Amino acid sequence: MTDRFNTIAGWVLFSGIVGLGLSSLSSHVFQADKPHRPHEMGYPIAGVVEEGAAEAGPDLGTLLAAADPAAGEKIFAKCTSCHTIAQGGPNGIGPNLYAVVGEPIGKGKAGFAFSSDLAAHGGNWDYETLNTWLHSPKAMVPGTKMSFAGLSKPEDRANVIAYLKANGGGPDFPAPAAAGETAAADAAKAPGEGDAAAAGATAAEEPAAAQNAAPAQ
Ligand code: HEC
Repeated sequence: MTDRFNTIAGWVLFSGIVGLGLSSLSSHVFQADKPHRPHEMGYPIAGVVEEGAAEAGPDLGTLLAAADPAAGEKIFAKCTSCHTIAQGGPNGIGPNLYAVVGEPIGKGKAGFAFSSDLAAHGGNWDYETLNTWLHSPKAMVPGTKMSFAGLSKPEDRANVIAYLKANGGGPDFPAPAAAGETAAADAAKAPGEGDAAAAGATAAEEPAAAQNAAPAQ
């Protein structure tokens, strides 16, 4: 009787062990719990200008030299739901922006409660940083509370920056880069740009691809 019990217990134990072994083996074979990402996602589509390539244009100095605060005021209508700009104006969903140009980033006035990420950014709002911020706040500071997609047109950003400077001042605009210098600087910082330009040329011949290549608004 005891013998029989031991035999049965032995088989139960044995089959348990085999079952465990098999399941671990099969998970190895099929890699069930390990999603595999391909090293390259999808494949590149010929004729589509890479993101960033569309950015190549006049440098910030050139844009700011041509910027118009009055045009910037119109664009600032997109900001007034959250920001005031008058001197001593109240904070709203966003901080008052009077004299923000040149001020420390994420410090504001009258105790506005900044996100910890923007407050910890450091540095001052110089023109390059404002330009990067207004292009896409989330790209610059992922944890920001400024729920604003950004201004995709470089001219719009330059105009708004000129408007900010007109309200409270700021340092002189950076000098526009000389034509030769810009070309050299672009060549130095964007090695793939020649390819992108070539891709752009292809895009122009293919209407469908050209649509894809149009910069997002
Ligand atoms: C939906 C509301 C909202 C809109 C629209 C908005 N902002 Fe903001 N903005 C914020 C908030 C909130 C902050 C604080 C962000 C943080 O703490 O991360 C902020 C911060 C800023 C700062 C940094 C201020 C400082 O003292 O560091 C600047 C500059 C700024 N916004 C400019 C603009 C401009 C220019 C526009 C329009 C083109 C705009 N914002 C549109 C909500 C908004």
